Amino acid sequence: MASLIPVGIAGLGRYVPERKLTNYDLEQIVDTSDEWIVQRTGIRERRIAAPEEVTSTLALAAAQAALADANMAADEIDLVLCATVTGDQPFPATACRVGHDLGATRAGGFDIAAACSGFVFASQIAAGFVQSGQFRNVMVIGAEVLSRILDYEDRNTCVLFGDGAGAAIYTSLERAGRGEYLGGSVSMEGGAEAILAQPGGGSRHPASKDSIEQRLHFMKMGGTRVFRFAVRVFAELVQKVVDTYGRDQIGVIVPHQVNQRIIEAAMDQVGLPMDLAFINIDRYGNTSAASVPIALREAYDAGRMEKGKLVLMPAFGAGMAWGHVLLRW
Ligand SMILES: CC(C)(COP(=O)(O)OP(=O)(O)OC[C@H]1O[C@@H](n2cnc3c(N)ncnc32)[C@H](O)[C@@H]1OP(=O)(O)O)[C@@H](O)C(=O)NCCC(=O)NCCS
Repeated sequence: MASLIPVGIAGLGRYVPERKLTNYDLEQIVDTSDEWIVQRTGIRERRIAAPEEVTSTLALAAAQAALADANMAADEIDLVLCATVTGDQPFPATACRVGHDLGATRAGGFDIAAACSGFVFASQIAAGFVQSGQFRNVMVIGAEVLSRILDYEDRNTCVLFGDGAGAAIYTSLERAGRGEYLGGSVSMEGGAEAILAQPGGGSRHPASKDSIEQRLHFMKMGGTRVFRFAVRVFAELVQKVVDTYGRDQIGVIVPHQVNQRIIEAAMDQVGLPMDLAFINIDRYGNTSAASVPIALREAYDAGRMEKGKLVLMPAFGAGMAWGHVLLRW
């Protein structure tokens, strides 16, 4: 068997819509308060796509930023992967629209529907393609316009989520010169549709007058069960990396920005200080597949990547599904 090509990250990009929806704005919409939201989640505001923006608009802007960061031309991209559960439409894939708009004329593309784990799963697909030599440059995007599937009559969900996009280009380590891909994981516990889902619109509950009346096209969530699940798998993922590499090797943890309290509880369980984690949930809320790549770019801009140290990205969400990606910067 031919030896694997070492993989790195050539470019990082992010884009968030202009419009901010603050907790005080939400107080005018549902029975909630800034105090409740900040105490339970750490979120202060989130971004909301403009009416003319769709998921591919956000994804395109993040992808363009990643290309600029990598000093790479669009026609050098071989594959576009878009992780999203709020694509422009059920099909065709949003990745095909983004590839077209980007000018990625040689690329193929497809979407990955893994909710909040989407970016870390897509990253592992990308790394595998580059390692094998099948593709040289893979654009991985996480993009969501969750505001279009949120029920602004349901205070349990609408305060938690926001819109945005982030992107990373996986290529050979030789070209990238940074962000060596060390590996990752993909896990699931199926059959959990009742805990976190958008029930309507698929083959189980196709769009109908009934499905609309029952508000099945909006996200539904059992918050407490998700909370417990997230703390458990987050702590397990981080513990494994600590056991394998040693605590002192970890430079920064860039987790799925799910909830400040979940991140604090998991870090506490593993015995790691919070300042090892990069957090931006106060400004964006949970942006599902977009959360890790947005945070990754912001951690990079904030100088949080330490040369030679590990960058750990744990993610978890609907499915239930969870996994991680590990880089050495
Ligand atoms: C949703 C979440 C913040 C709730 O926190 P919690 O500590 O479990 O909630 P509590 O038990 O303290 O409070 C629940 C009460 O708050 C109420 N509540 C829910 N949302 C509220 C809001 N936005 N404002 C005010 N009250 C709210 C509920 O109706 C419930 O009231 P009740 O007891 O009268 O029925 C928390 O469970 C959570 O973050 N879960 C994970 C959700 C998540 O991140 N999902 C995405 C995963 S990828």
